Amino acid sequence: MALEDIIRSLIIKKGPITFAQFMELALYHPEYGYYSSGKANIGKEGDYYTSPCVHPAFGEIISRFIVRAYEIIAPSEFTVVEMGAGKGILALDILNSLKNNSPSVYNKTNYVIVERNLCILREGEKVLKEHIHKVKFIDSLSTLDPESINGVFISNELVDSFPFHRVKFINGEMFEIFVTLDKGEFKEVLGKPSTPALRKYLESYDIEFANEQEIEINLYAGEWIQSVAKILAKGLVLTIDYGFLAPELFNPRRMKGTFLCFHKHTANENPYANIGKQDITAHVDFTNLIRAGKSCGLNTVRYLTQGQFLIDWGILDIVERYSLEDIPSYKSRMAIKNLFLPELMGDRFKVLIQEKNLTHKLRSFYPSSPFRISFQRPGDRLPD
Ligand SMILES: C[S@@+](CC[C@H](N)C(=O)[O-])C[C@H]1O[C@@H](n2cnc3c(N)ncnc32)[C@H](O)[C@@H]1O
Repeated sequence: MALEDIIRSLIIKKGPITFAQFMELALYHPEYGYYSSGKANIGKEGDYYTSPCVHPAFGEIISRFIVRAYEIIAPSEFTVVEMGAGKGILALDILNSLKNNSPSVYNKTNYVIVERNLCILREGEKVLKEHIHKVKFIDSLSTLDPESINGVFISNELVDSFPFHRVKFINGEMFEIFVTLDKGEFKEVLGKPSTPALRKYLESYDIEFANEQEIEINLYAGEWIQSVAKILAKGLVLTIDYGFLAPELFNPRRMKGTFLCFHKHTANENPYANIGKQDITAHVDFTNLIRAGKSCGLNTVRYLTQGQFLIDWGILDIVERYSLEDIPSYKSRMAIKNLFLPELMGDRFKVLIQEKNLTHKLRSFYPSSPFRISFQRPGDRLPD
């Protein structure tokens, strides 16, 4: 049965489903979901690019962050947990860089990949064969014990792929967007919120929504950061994704929210086309990650743009390794610039660094770079 038909039968049997339920099936149905079926294709030949497929310089910079984290955590057991690692491209660049540039940290590091889709996990095992003795593959965070990790949790473009609810405000009242059928075709209808958690999510935000404004609410993102906080005994959490703080994300300029679908490098706003063959995603609410983290002992160290983060950790030194003399080298320079220039990936992606049980050691942790590539915008004042 095609995935569309599986979703149709569910709606016929149970009535309208939330957008989050629709997205869960479209991306993660065990057999036909975009990610679970192995159809997710990231990179030049695929549907979209992520930073690790732009250039290994991205992984090299994260490996520098990991080395500094290792120095301040000073553990007997040091673990890097990468969640939503896809095929392991970032893990490979990080481990190659650690092995070549910091062999003593490489020797002490255990690398855990958490990837919920087993067919992607299997590809990761092939990509990482050179480092396989260092890497453990698991499909869920729930297999890690509380307070069992001293080290660093990293993720790149994980949170934007969690299924989200969509709501719409009409005359000040919140309605949820559900998916139903009209003559066999998928159709959106409004109804009462499926869970009180949706109203609760916005309670602490002082935001006035415009009439007819739609937003996405990612309830799982907060639960995820709280699970990370529980598992981490001492260390840092590095979350990289596109998104904003809440006042900017939920600004009425974005009347239709931020959700988009990606198919063959083309963005569209129709989640009911190419079901199971296209990605569905929305910008991340970093205010939620900051607050949910804080409620379980994760303190914010920095929230900044990817461009500034890469500059601070020395990406310009890597650019200088590539001369302008030959074409492959020139192409590498251009690819690396894509990662940090504000008009390309530099401003769109944000980096959130949180810590647990390290406060007193952080004074000299973050490098101070004289170069400013992005400036905080007024809406970017950190939440309490
Ligand atoms: C957009 S891809 C990013 C892949 C990779 N990090 C990159 O930057 O290229 C998101 C990945 O997160 C995985 N994922 C989503 N939810 C997850 C969860 N709850 N636990 C582990 N992996 C998850 C998906 O299967 C997918 O491989």
